[in-house]
Amino acid sequence: MNARVRPAELRPVVEADRAHVWHHITQHKPFETQDPRVYVEGRGMRLWDAAGLEYLDAVSGGVWTVNVGYGRQSIADAVREQLLKMNYFSNSAGSVPGARFAAQLIEKMPGLSRVYYANSGSEANEKVFKIVRQIAHRHHQGRKYKILYRERDYHGTTIATLSASGQPQRSLQYGPLTPGFVEVPHCLEYHSQYGPIAHYGERAADAIEDVILREGPDTVGALCLEPVTAGGGVITPPAGYWERVQEICRRHRVLLHIDEVVCGVGRTGKWFGYQHYGIRPDFVTMAKGVASGYAAISCVVTTEAIFELFKDDPGDPLAYFRDISTFGGCAAGPAAALENMRIIEAEGLLENTSAMGARLMGNLRELQERHAVIGDVRGIGLFCGAELVQDRTTRQPAEEKRVQAVVAECLSQGVIIGATNRSIPGFNNTLCLSPALIATASDIDHITATIDRALEKVFGGRH
Ligand SMILES: Cc1ncc(COP(=O)(O)O)c(C=O)c1O
Repeated sequence: MNARVRPAELRPVVEADRAHVWHHITQHKPFETQDPRVYVEGRGMRLWDAAGLEYLDAVSGGVWTVNVGYGRQSIADAVREQLLKMNYFSNSAGSVPGARFAAQLIEKMPGLSRVYYANSGSEANEKVFKIVRQIAHRHHQGRKYKILYRERDYHGTTIATLSASGQPQRSLQYGPLTPGFVEVPHCLEYHSQYGPIAHYGERAADAIEDVILREGPDTVGALCLEPVTAGGGVITPPAGYWERVQEICRRHRVLLHIDEVVCGVGRTGKWFGYQHYGIRPDFVTMAKGVASGYAAISCVVTTEAIFELFKDDPGDPLAYFRDISTFGGCAAGPAAALENMRIIEAEGLLENTSAMGARLMGNLRELQERHAVIGDVRGIGLFCGAELVQDRTTRQPAEEKRVQAVVAECLSQGVIIGATNRSIPGFNNTLCLSPALIATASDIDHITATIDRALEKVFGGRH
């Protein structure tokens, strides 16, 4: 146990939490008889809770966020100094860290040139939806306003981003949703909609074109996609997919919006997920790993061509992007993001992510050889998933409660892993792993050894 955590002193904290905090995405009934978990300290990839128990965090703060690990003194110092010097002014004016971070980010994103600051992934995605709609009003007689999103993808929690959710369990009971959003089919070859075909990637991309043609290309403004789908099942794109998607977007003058909220800033072993696939996006949104959870910051990054569209009529008071985000002006965000980026470069964390990601995939494939319940293993960098099935031939998903039992068993053994949840009915069956980019070989081996034992306990013997 960590000497710094004193459970007795923390008892009032746990009581206050139980009495007054409404937790995110959590059923509270069990807290009538048991304590909620309260984490009180973190160092590197390790966490301690209020009861003094230690955990290895294999999901970077639960939701792919703490990319550079816990307890980073230099980020805390950078934020502190900035807050004392100049904490806030609305981003209608500039800030020193805001300008510096934008310049550094753009260096990593050839072809893009403008950064718009906000606070959350949802908010950044909504900014793009607004930009696309305003372009439609000003340049396409209001027609090219529709936004396509993909089955199984997720883009946020607000009503408009839920309207772009390919995960029905997120949006159910929150309607009526926003009009103008249209779904395209997923690209998960393991559950091919077309049977076992050659060139699945091209076929899945063509399915997007079918939707564009059905809706009318002159009504479709943008296509919003995750480069690698996260909460919908860790779906790495099939070969040939992205080249064809790019071609289709060009052909129909559909702007391409890449949601890098999970993949961005190193998670996949490159700065951005789209950079693995030769994509040339019109918009990139990012949030979680931008400042690794040390401050709230999200960004929309776009091209000069898009930016220019909002300068073309300075005499028209409605012609520019009339959007504001109060805390998009908080200087803590870019101050933390600058130091976060410096750490990734100085410590070679992109390289580490590729190397440790390969190890994690290798270990998961070994587990797949031993456990019949692992139907498929997918991932890139430190962003991996293992899909659990009842039967490898039919690929029928494992029951969600048993998948959750594996997660609970790992937790009881001191390792925090995740699983897709409240996402796709009947398909919440993928274990999710996203350790911090600082993970070592022994951390990775410890995570997969724990999963090995948990699978054995929940699903019985190996084969
Ligand atoms: C791909 C993706 N986009 C957007 C979001 C929404 O981000 P936020 O929770 O910061 O609003 C998430 C959150 O998990 C996400 O996974």
